[in-house]
Amino acid sequence: MSGITTPIVIGSDHAAYDLKEKIKAFLMERSIDVEDVGCYSENSVDYPDYGIKVASMVSSGKFSRGILLCGTGIGMSMVANKFSRVRAALCSDLFSAIMSRRHNDSNILVLGARVIGDMLALEIVKAWLETPFDGGRHLRRLEKFDHIDMDAEHGCTG
Ligand code: RB5
Repeated sequence: MSGITTPIVIGSDHAAYDLKEKIKAFLMERSIDVEDVGCYSENSVDYPDYGIKVASMVSSGKFSRGILLCGTGIGMSMVANKFSRVRAALCSDLFSAIMSRRHNDSNILVLGARVIGDMLALEIVKAWLETPFDGGRHLRRLEKFDHIDMDAEHGCTG
């Protein structure tokens, strides 16, 4: 893949274990370093355990990019977007994946293994890794939500 050297942290639950392994192989064949935080088999696990691992490693800055997978991608994106500085994008098509980079500077790609086929998933990963952020007015928009505690900022007491 052209010019991509960023190490990737990747995680999935059991529903997406097989696709995670395929994406890992795809990245490693292209000399991209991958840290796999699990899961490590198709035995049933709880997706938040893996979503939290990947999202915390991106939120802390240890990794600049991550990939999360579960059956639909919905649970993983809910978990990941609770973390500051995480901008997780659930993508099932190429256009969304590209625009999530160009306009949203997404730093975690989320895929639903029960939603899309393997070949499309690999194409989405490739496009997501190769597409840069446009910056400019899009940066101003990210700065309006990226670093704030939404609850405190908007008077939510629960
Ligand atoms: C596991 O059955 C499934 O609930 C999970 O992979 C994911 O789709 C949750 O959002």
